[in-house]
Amino acid sequence: MAVIKSIKSELERLRLFRLKMPSDEGLTKERKSAANVICIASGKGGTGKSILATNLAYLRARQGQRVLLVDFDAGMANAHLLLGVVPKYDLGHVMLGEVLAHEALADGPCGMKLLSGGVGRHSLVSPTRRQLDRLFRALHPLESDFDLVIIDHGAGMGYATVAHLAATSTLLLVTNPEVTALSDGYALYKRANMVNPEIKVGLVMNRCASEAEASSAWDRFRGASQRFLGHAPQYIGWIPADSSVSRSIARREPVTLMDPSSPAGHAIEAVANWTPIDFARTQRPFYARARSALR
Ligand SMILES: Nc1ncnc2c1ncn2[C@@H]1O[C@H](COP(=O)(O)OP(=O)(O)OP(=O)(O)O)[C@@H](O)[C@H]1O
Ligand SMILES: [Mg+2]
Repeated sequence: MAVIKSIKSELERLRLFRLKMPSDEGLTKERKSAANVICIASGKGGTGKSILATNLAYLRARQGQRVLLVDFDAGMANAHLLLGVVPKYDLGHVMLGEVLAHEALADGPCGMKLLSGGVGRHSLVSPTRRQLDRLFRALHPLESDFDLVIIDHGAGMGYATVAHLAATSTLLLVTNPEVTALSDGYALYKRANMVNPEIKVGLVMNRCASEAEASSAWDRFRGASQRFLGHAPQYIGWIPADSSVSRSIARREPVTLMDPSSPAGHAIEAVANWTPIDFARTQRPFYARARSALR
């Protein structure tokens, strides 16, 4: 009896999912306009991706852009904590077809929207190829509602991250001067170029004690990239290690909102003005490319 009940509820869930999913015909229609889409990734964990992503989203929204931050550190999301937002829904609800993507958006500062990655859901931590395909398809309609979509990834080269890297025109690679972070960052840069030879990559050296430390770490990164790959990312700049970042986390506000004139606040603002962000477009819609990358 219990088995029949659970089959029935699964069928009902799939029915709802089909109802909520945009049709393929809708997906291939010409878009009204497409958002610029950038991915923020790193090899090693804890390099500062989410700090940068949340501040970037806030700063661009403050400039009047329609900004969406997608926290794709799925299952272990924390952008909502950094923004002081309590999301009702997350990527998991969208993936399971329980809500439409735009219904899952939460409001952040200055009108920016957040699509949270959810906390502690197994299906999100290691989704199947099919589940990811469904999710990308469900996210696709959002592209025409925003000027800029910022995707904050979990560390490393999981399947979902690599599909995003294959689809994106523009990647912000966040590292710090530690040799382990540089080495893992190099591995990610190499992989990104393998799956997407056209990709534009900008590197941010975060949490540096001084400009000299940042330059020396960048020289090492660039040297290795040039030597082994024949090319290197563009150096966007460096962000100092700054206690105002920890204070902003405790306050659940981006540091560029809480203390814009702090050393980290200034540096992050410069990163947010990196010109390629304004040209981060792909010829085909981003999520159509991401779906192709899954095949
Ligand atoms: N410039 C900085 N100055 C001081 N502390 C920093 C700075 N950048 C990041 N941190 C610290 O590093 C921690 C990790 O930052 P963040 O969560 O942005 O990393 P992440 O790359 O998103 O991590 P994960 O790989 O787990 O997603 C923060 O909680 C903060 O304490
Ligand atoms: Mg993070």
